Amino acid sequence: MNIIIADNAGFCFGVKRAIDISLQELETSNNNIYSLGPLIHNAQAVELLKMKGLDIIENPEKVNKGKIIIRSHGIPMDIDNKIKKSNLEMIDCTCPYVKSIHKKVGDYYKQGYHIVIIGDPNHPEIIGINGWCNNTAYIINSEEDAIRLADMDKICIVSQTTNTQEKFNSLSKMVQNKGKEVIIFNTICNATNLRQETCKEISKKVNAMIVIGGYHSSNTNKLVEISKKYCKNVFHVETYKDLPLQELLKFNTIGITAGASTPDWIIKEVVETMDNLNNNEMMEAIENSFTRI
Ligand code: F3S
Repeated sequence: MNIIIADNAGFCFGVKRAIDISLQELETSNNNIYSLGPLIHNAQAVELLKMKGLDIIENPEKVNKGKIIIRSHGIPMDIDNKIKKSNLEMIDCTCPYVKSIHKKVGDYYKQGYHIVIIGDPNHPEIIGINGWCNNTAYIINSEEDAIRLADMDKICIVSQTTNTQEKFNSLSKMVQNKGKEVIIFNTICNATNLRQETCKEISKKVNAMIVIGGYHSSNTNKLVEISKKYCKNVFHVETYKDLPLQELLKFNTIGITAGASTPDWIIKEVVETMDNLNNNEMMEAIENSFTRI
């Protein structure tokens, strides 16, 4: 069995930065430390951070002292203001790429543009972005959504950072026809581009793909979607325990990739399990050939 591990698998710059800052705070601070929502979409990493003392809260008004960590997805402007006015110390780990979308959306909203966000309306990143244009954005996630949009004078389009290029291109083209003056910012993150591109290339070459990451992680699910386009056998796993080992033995070449919120240790465990499977398979083949002789 040949195993190909994708480049650019695992933590992206923004998630790594948020985790590093949080771990440093947890090690050095005597204050209560909270994160506003789970720091990343990975149950195992969240559990580990909890053991180190990071408490998850959903509403900053529920606590009145300590430090509050803002995850890489960012938050809406009103919540940002509320925290700044409270007794809580804000540790802002919003990814700088997401911050720059907040700025664009805020600037163009002030100039009278209607903001269109291409992305999942329930994803925290999108809820956060919408909060920088007074929650007035049109959030579209499908062709039907784009068709339903009314005609407008001035439109500014941005994207969820983890969208696929294909989806962004087709939906932004449709929205373009809805406005007299349309500005398009392709705000898909480069880390996402690279990860999706390598995932696509590997999926074309292998008999099976293993995608590692949280079942609720949007960027991991995009990798699953891409893999399924080019490969018939795709397995989405959260940890090595989810690997269907018997089934995987059927394939000659297997690709492995992982979402931006998948910790290195989880990827390593999956790779090691697959290596062991490979070695056992080789041992079995050698033993069988001995019997034959
Ligand atoms: Fe930031 Fe891109 Fe990661 S926007 S959080 S570096 S996927």
